[in-house]
Amino acid sequence: MYNYKEIEADQIEYIAVATVEELGNGQRIILEVDDLSIAIFNIAGQYFAIADVCSHDDGPVAEGELSDYQIECPRHGALFDIKTGKALTLPAVVDIPAYPVRVEKGEILLGLPVEE
Ligand code: FES
Repeated sequence: MYNYKEIEADQIEYIAVATVEELGNGQRIILEVDDLSIAIFNIAGQYFAIADVCSHDDGPVAEGELSDYQIECPRHGALFDIKTGKALTLPAVVDIPAYPVRVEKGEILLGLPVEE
């Protein structure tokens, strides 16, 4: 399962990755965290995080065009839902990871699965 928003809260560890000032409405940032490349989006004050790795050919996906919560992979055009990581169109057929995000005291916290 790739949608880490759906796993138990005690299986998620939150880390501060930016302040709300650093990620304004309509903006995105791409971070390297624990060897993972993760993109965080601010859409009208709601924050969403997905892996910046397309499931079609492992290319970066997060710099693609964003429209209605859908990101278009710049390489071959697959669409993904940034709320869930779901692959919406070919050539991608496998979902990509989506991560929970929350804001506390002006800091954006990214939720990552706890390593067993
Ligand atoms: S690498 Fe993303 S659609 Fe091919």
